[in-house]
Amino acid sequence: MEEQRNVMPRIGEKAPEFKAITTQGEINFPTDYKGSWVILFSHPADFTPVCTSEFMTFATMEKDFNKANCKLVGLSVDGLYSHIAWLRTIKEKIEYKGMKNVEVTFPLIEDITMEVAKKYGMMMPGESNTKAVRAVFVLDPKGIVRTVLYYPLSLGRNFDELYRIVIALQTADAFNVATPADWRPGDEVIVPTAGSCGVAKERMESNDANTKCYDWFFCTKKISKEEVLKKIIK
Ligand code: BEZ
Repeated sequence: MEEQRNVMPRIGEKAPEFKAITTQGEINFPTDYKGSWVILFSHPADFTPVCTSEFMTFATMEKDFNKANCKLVGLSVDGLYSHIAWLRTIKEKIEYKGMKNVEVTFPLIEDITMEVAKKYGMMMPGESNTKAVRAVFVLDPKGIVRTVLYYPLSLGRNFDELYRIVIALQTADAFNVATPADWRPGDEVIVPTAGSCGVAKERMESNDANTKCYDWFFCTKKISKEEVLKKIIK
């Protein structure tokens, strides 16, 4: 029989729907998250060191994500009681890099059947047949996939980068701009490329102090950090 390929949802597609049991009760995904940005992420297994460092970091940053109207949802192919025991251990026993007594209050999905992991292409047999890789899906308030990241089992994620992604996507939407390499709030943003010869000429000849053109197709403008954060952080 032909091997069933587990295809990941792609950028611009609607996030696949599922119902699941989590450490915070049942969820109906993505319906329950309508109106919020969401990071759905998988980890390989409970009671493993890289995952523990990731959960402690993410839980510590959760308030910052929530202030940017972004909710977190975790998943592994472990069962609910394993999840509960692991999260209790993290809170009661683990002190790591100054983080202690860390309570993970975002939902952690149990997925023993791998139904959700397969729907989201989180199983990569070349890496493991029994554990999900470290996948990240950033969804917008309409449940559309806006960013997809995959990391192998051995590589812990950079949570500052996940936060940067959420802020950059929201900035792009709110101001109709794109964000250049390594962009952070306060850095210049990229204005949409000129779509006609007239606009290209106008841009190159403009004296607008707020706008800078490196060439006709590559123009930036300033948006202050305060302006960005005022729009995004609640
Ligand atoms: C970890 O989280 O430490 C881990 C999980 C699965 C395989 C290797 C490492």
